Amino acid sequence: MNAPSDDAPLWAAKVKTAAARYAALRARTLTLAAPLSAEDQAAQSMPDASPTKWHLGHTTWFFETFLLSPNLAGYKPFDPVFTYLFNSYYEAVGARQPRPERGLLTRPPLEAVLAYRAHVDAAMSELLRDLPPSLDGLVSLGLAHEEQHQELILMDILHLFSRSPLSPAYDPAWREPAKADAPARLLAFEGGLVEIGHEGAGFAFDNEGPRHKVHLEPYRLSERLVTNGEWLEFMAAGGYAQPRWWLSEGWSTVQTEGWAAPLYWRRDGDNWLEMTLAGRTPIDPAAPVRHVSYYEADAYAAWAGARLPTEAEWEHAAGAMQQACGQVWQWTRSSYSPYPRFTPGAGAVGEYNGKFMVGQMVLRGGAAITPAGHSRPTYRNFFYPHQRWMAAGLRLARDGAAEEGDLARDVAAGLSASPKTLPPKHFYDAEGSKLFEAICDLPEYYLTRTERSLLEDIAPQLAARIPDGAALVEFGSGAGIKTRILLDAAPQIEVYAPIDISRDALDEANTALAAAYPDLTITALAEDFTKALDLPAAAQRRPKVGFFPGSTIGNFTPAAAAAFLRNARDLLGPQSLLIIGFDLAKDAGVVEAAYDDPAGVTAAFNKNLLKRLNRELGADFDLAAFDHRAMWNAAESRIEMHLVSLRGQTVHIGGAAYRFAPGETIHTENAYKFTPQGFAAIAGQGGWRVVQAHQSPDPAFAIYVLAPET
Ligand code: AVI
Repeated sequence: MNAPSDDAPLWAAKVKTAAARYAALRARTLTLAAPLSAEDQAAQSMPDASPTKWHLGHTTWFFETFLLSPNLAGYKPFDPVFTYLFNSYYEAVGARQPRPERGLLTRPPLEAVLAYRAHVDAAMSELLRDLPPSLDGLVSLGLAHEEQHQELILMDILHLFSRSPLSPAYDPAWREPAKADAPARLLAFEGGLVEIGHEGAGFAFDNEGPRHKVHLEPYRLSERLVTNGEWLEFMAAGGYAQPRWWLSEGWSTVQTEGWAAPLYWRRDGDNWLEMTLAGRTPIDPAAPVRHVSYYEADAYAAWAGARLPTEAEWEHAAGAMQQACGQVWQWTRSSYSPYPRFTPGAGAVGEYNGKFMVGQMVLRGGAAITPAGHSRPTYRNFFYPHQRWMAAGLRLARDGAAEEGDLARDVAAGLSASPKTLPPKHFYDAEGSKLFEAICDLPEYYLTRTERSLLEDIAPQLAARIPDGAALVEFGSGAGIKTRILLDAAPQIEVYAPIDISRDALDEANTALAAAYPDLTITALAEDFTKALDLPAAAQRRPKVGFFPGSTIGNFTPAAAAAFLRNARDLLGPQSLLIIGFDLAKDAGVVEAAYDDPAGVTAAFNKNLLKRLNRELGADFDLAAFDHRAMWNAAESRIEMHLVSLRGQTVHIGGAAYRFAPGETIHTENAYKFTPQGFAAIAGQGGWRVVQAHQSPDPAFAIYVLAPET
C-alpha cells in the first residue's frame, strides 16, 4: 500500500455525490485496518492512543449520534451500550469509557463493531439519498472527523508496533515522504497587516475561523523542514544534554523521560534506526525529522539560533514554502486559542474543538499519514507540548526580513569580493564556540595556557594599579577563568561588566561567577563589543578597568585594532586602564602548528563556518569539497586561515551563485603576532600609552597595561 496521500483527494472530488463520498471514505477506513489482525486492533499501547477497533466504532458512533438518531425517522440504534463505549469526550452526550481504558474493551468483538459499521452505513445511505441541505455541514464534519481518525489509526498502530519486541511492519511496502529538494533557504516576508483564517466556500473546522487581521513583524521562514541529518548534528552537539537550549518544562521532561533522540529512534551500533510503518529502518538524513515534541522543536530552534514560526507567519507563507503539506505536521510557537470572534457551534458538536483551546500548541501543514486533501493552509492541528507520537517536525523562522542581518550581508559582500573573505566573528555560533573552547585545550595552541599562567604570575602587580571600587569591563565574555584570576587578586573590584554579542555566553559565564563572587555586582551588556557606546549604569561613575585578553586584538587588521582601541578609550574614559593580552611574533612553525593541529579541531572550527551558512542561510556548500589551510604570512606578521576549494564548483546562497576555481580560497581569519614596538605603536594610534609590559617565557605572549594618552 502507498502512503494515503497518493489517493485521490476525497474532499476535492466535488463531482461525487455525498453518498459516493461517504462510501469511499468509510471504505478507506476499513482498507487501513485490513493489514491488522483482530489482536492488533484491540490493543492500546498508552493512554493517548486508542485501539483500531475503538476508532472503527467511534467514527460510526459519530454518524449515529449526530446524524441518524436525530434526523432519520425510525432509526434504531445498533446497541444502546455503544454510546457509552464509543463516546470520546462529548459531555452533552453522557458518560463514557475512560480513554486510558479503551484497550480493556475486548468485548464487543471486532465482528460486532464491523456489523455496527454496516448497520450505520445502511442507514446513512438512506439519509444521504434525500439529505436536507441543513445537514450538509454535519455530514462533512462526520467525514472530516473520520479522516482524522484514519490518521490516528496509523499513529496509534505505529506506537503499538514500536513497543513490540518483533517490530512488526504495518505495511512492508509503506512509502516514506519525499525529501526536500531545496537547501534550507530562508524566504523573507515584510509582514504588516495580513489576514489569516478560513472564509468562504468549502469545508473547514470551526477553529479555522473567523478570518481576521493579524499584524506580522518582518520575518523569514525556512523554505524546507529540518531534516534527520540536521537533528543528528543537534544531538552530536549535546542538544539533549545541555539545559541552555530548553524551556524549563522541556528540560525537566527530558530528565524524567530520559529523552536523547526523537520518539521512534533507536541506536544500532554507530547508526540510528527509526520505527516506521514499514518496520525498523535506517534513518534517512535527508528526510524531515518527525516524532519530536514541541519542547524538542523549540530547543532545536534555539540551538540553531532561530525560532519556531507563529501560526500566522506559517499560514501567510504557506504558498511559498516547500513541504507545506504531506510530510510532517509542523510545530508553531502559537498557543492553541480561539481566533477573535470565535464562538463554538450550538449543541454537542460545539464541543468538537472549542473546549480544547488552552494549554496546547498549534501545528500546521499535514503529515504523510494525513489523508490526501484533508488538510488546508488554514488547518489548525493541536497537541500538548510533551506529546511525540504524532508525526510532528519543524521548520525554522527568524526575525527580520528585508534587513538580512549581519551574517547574510557579510557573506554576500565577502564572497563577491576578490579574494573571497568572511569575517571571523561568524565562527562563533554554538558549535563554533564549543570548538574554540576545544582549541584552547590543544597542546599546540599555546596562547590560552601561556596567557593564563602569565596572568597568575603578574596578578599582584596588576591589582596594585586597580583603584578601589573599580568596574572591570571585559570585551568579549570568556569562560571566566582569566576573569577570576583578576577578581581574586583585586577584591577592590566591585562591578563586573562583560560585553558580548551572545546573550547565552553571557548568561552562562555570569551564573557561575555570581555564585563564586556573591559581593560582586555583575551587569552584562549583550552587544557587539566593537560597537558598544554606553556602559551599564552600575559601571558608570566608577574608575574603570578594561580587560581584553586572548589576543583577540590580533584578529583585527592593524587599522581596525587601532579603531577598536580608540572606541574603548572613549567608552572607559580618561581615568581608566586597559589590561590587554596579545600574542608575540615567533617561529613560524610554532604558530602554524597552533592553527593547524593534527587532531583537526581547528580545521573543524574553520569548516563549521560553512556548516553554519548551510544551516542558517540555506547555502549548499559541499563540506567535503573544502579544506582547512593555515599559513604564516611573514610580510604581514600574521597567521592566515583559509578554506580552500578542492575543485571548481558553484555554491548557491539565497538566490546568488558563487563560483570557485580549483584551489581558490575563502580567507576566514587573520591572527596577527606583534612585536612589542609594533603593538605600542598601534596602542598609540588608539590613544593609549603602555604603563606596564609583561612577557611570558617562550612561547612568548604579552600582557600590557595601557592608560589613556593625555
Ligand atoms: C579568538 N582568537 C584570539 C583565536 C586566535 O588565536 O586568533 C581564534 C582562533 N582561530 C584559530 N584558532 C583559534
